Amino acid sequence: MAFATRPFVRAASSASAAAAKKLAVKHVTVIGGGLMGAGIAQVAAASGHTVVLVDQSDEILKKSTKGIEESLKRVTKKKFADKPEAGAEFIEKTLKNLTTSTDAVAVVHSTDLVIEAIVENKEVKNELFKRLDKFAPEHTIFASNTSSLQITELANSTTRQDRFGGLHFFNPVPMMKLVEVIKTPMTSQKTFESLVDFSKAVGKSPVSCKDTPGFIVNRLLVPYMMEAVRLFERGDASKEDIDVAMKLGAGYPMGPFELLDYVGLDTSKYIIDGWHKLEPNNPLFAPSPLLNKLVEEKKLGKKTGEGFYKYK
Ligand code: NAI
Repeated sequence: MAFATRPFVRAASSASAAAAKKLAVKHVTVIGGGLMGAGIAQVAAASGHTVVLVDQSDEILKKSTKGIEESLKRVTKKKFADKPEAGAEFIEKTLKNLTTSTDAVAVVHSTDLVIEAIVENKEVKNELFKRLDKFAPEHTIFASNTSSLQITELANSTTRQDRFGGLHFFNPVPMMKLVEVIKTPMTSQKTFESLVDFSKAVGKSPVSCKDTPGFIVNRLLVPYMMEAVRLFERGDASKEDIDVAMKLGAGYPMGPFELLDYVGLDTSKYIIDGWHKLEPNNPLFAPSPLLNKLVEEKKLGKKTGEGFYKYK
């Protein structure tokens, strides 16, 4: 009997000890006020966190704040359809929780969590994390929203590898429910659990994944889109028919070519080229001549008015 109960008691008490040690994130610093950073700042502020949004200039931050205000109005219209006063109060409260800054070093001294959502460039991200590591308090967790870089490499630019993980949100952040929480071999259990709790606190459904290229969603989605391009390149089916087939046959909301144009062909090329470099013999990561040609011609998708389709 003692044999049966002792491990249970030990497990239960160690679980509660771990829970007690978890960090309850209250203050968040989001670096990068672009598409993703602004969305992350919005959902964090809307769920009662104190948020500082950082970018390189006041002009960019003004644009980010305007975008957040407009997005909040859209969210509120749906969420508080019959209670406009409660909606107005929600917007006011959310915006009160949010401030902006152009000086990351000056604001990280009192933060619990730094979420990085700047340009997808390893050197620039490493430089930022290395600098902030010197100024952030010891307890502060660092997280990157990178889609394609290795979290482990970013963590290695700091001295807090145990307090470093990935928080991969999806676009548009206020609408998309998923967050991938990435655990490197050095991420502590306490850090991982704190990131999971934070994801839930901002209203998302977290899933966990190791630090592997593409994590879960992009690892499945990017090779699928590349395979669609190869099918089209071989002349086996038209892009229109492939899109219709996947929408009507698989129930996907968008076909692979519509999705590629939405994501941006340059972004997709950047991801596949990076993975191809890591695993040159993996046929799933093989680059596509057609995708390369379109990017060379600056046909990057919706954002440039033409990709696989024309949008003018
Ligand atoms: P974006 O280009 O819209 O925004 C990046 C922002 O970072 C810009 O406002 C820029 O001024 C700022 N920035 C650049 N360097 C900075 C620095 N050193 N300090 C402060 N701010 C700096 O980019 P986006 O799309 O928001 O992507 C950001 C990150 O999120 C990337 O790592 C990307 O891989 C990842 N991601 C993007 C998704 C998407 O659908 N766009 C989805 C999930 C992740």
